[in-house]
Amino acid sequence: MINVAIDGPAGAGKSTISRRAAAALGYIYIDTGALYRTVGVHALRLGVDTQDPDAVAACLTDDLQVELRFVNGEQRMFLGGEDVSEAIRTPEASLAASAVSAVPAVRAYLFDLQKQLAHDNNCIMDGRDIGTVVLPDAQVKIFLTASPEARAERRYKELCEKGMDVKYEDVLADMIQRDYNDSHRAIAPLKPADDAITVDTSNIGLEESVALVIRTIKDKLEN
Ligand code: DC
Repeated sequence: MINVAIDGPAGAGKSTISRRAAAALGYIYIDTGALYRTVGVHALRLGVDTQDPDAVAACLTDDLQVELRFVNGEQRMFLGGEDVSEAIRTPEASLAASAVSAVPAVRAYLFDLQKQLAHDNNCIMDGRDIGTVVLPDAQVKIFLTASPEARAERRYKELCEKGMDVKYEDVLADMIQRDYNDSHRAIAPLKPADDAITVDTSNIGLEESVALVIRTIKDKLEN
């Protein structure tokens, strides 16, 4: 199977670019952040303190069912049989996902599921540690990044379009804080794999970024 790992910081356009590149290449797209978000929602629903690693680890009981299914070609997440694909996108779920993703037991719990998906499918898998930890043998590894300012600018526009009243400076500060947390955590910190190709989208738009990623994957597979 062909496995493409795409890692990078929040707001670099990973999911949009990965989804479009996968569609163009005929691979499936797997968003691993959605797995951490689903575990985060599970912990929230149980009312546990997501900042408490032992309490989070204790949520990973034998009867916990985290499933990723494809419905009309789109990834959907199921928790105990319930479709939680929308519930995992709230700001609370984002915070919970960030907290539970720092717990080693959670990463171990989700590891096999990610490995199996990549073993069974030609795929583009995006996340933070795909090229470094989950799929160290992926044929193509891309580190997709952009400056904090460019990423904050995009996120700011998105939020404004949704009618939210936010300040650019706050969005930028939040972005810098998240970068710091993701790259300084003890387990599976965000960093490019030694053999990753860095793609910087600071100065290019979405269409160009998608085309560049597709070209990068094709070039790497042909050489
Ligand atoms: O990409 P995202 O925002 O949906 O990810 C949600 C959280 O999960 C984010 O805080 C980073 C974390 N994550 C991770 O630690 N490892 C991954 N492979 C994917 C996401």
